[in-house]
Amino acid sequence: MLSAGQIEYMLGLMYSAASLKKQMDEGAVFILACENNEPVGFASYQEIKPFVFKLHKLYVLPSQQGKGTGRFLLDRIMAAIKPVGKATLQLQVNRENKARHFYEKLGFTIIDEIDLDIGNGFFMNDYVMEKKIIP
Ligand SMILES: CC(C)(COP(=O)(O)OP(=O)(O)OC[C@H]1O[C@@H](n2cnc3c(N)ncnc32)[C@H](O)[C@@H]1OP(=O)(O)O)[C@@H](O)C(=O)NCCC(=O)NCCS
Repeated sequence: MLSAGQIEYMLGLMYSAASLKKQMDEGAVFILACENNEPVGFASYQEIKPFVFKLHKLYVLPSQQGKGTGRFLLDRIMAAIKPVGKATLQLQVNRENKARHFYEKLGFTIIDEIDLDIGNGFFMNDYVMEKKIIP
């Protein structure tokens, strides 16, 4: 979906130690899924405005995909958000990423399409998806 150049640029932008620390300092919550004490997937989310949460990241090791880990991580996030009340969980997913179908299966719907300029001539061509959390 993305060129090697764009992946490298985005890794620096979003996954350098400094960037991860900044995200945590600014309120992003990271959760790790482990099997036999080995990490197999992770997610991060954050309340971006009152009653609106954003799923920033959700990744499962390729060897572990299709075994319920993605659903487990999302369920944990939704359970953590539930006490807040009538909230929504939003996310962005590349328009060509089949993960979109995973999100649809878990009750998310597409609410927008965006082409986000992330610098250096690169764009994120995403769907914005949303799921309402029923308290
Ligand atoms: C998308 C991702 C997080 C899903 O996690 P996963 O552990 O593979 O998914 P699960 O096993 O929990 O699947 C939950 C359900 O969704 C379905 N599902 C998973 N991927 C699907 C897909 N691509 N298309 C349709 N359904 C899918 C499963 O069949 C399962 O349904 P079931 O419960 O009825 O059997 C994982 O595949 C991944 O890490 N992909 C690469 C990274 C990525 O693109 N992340 C999203 C960035 S926005």
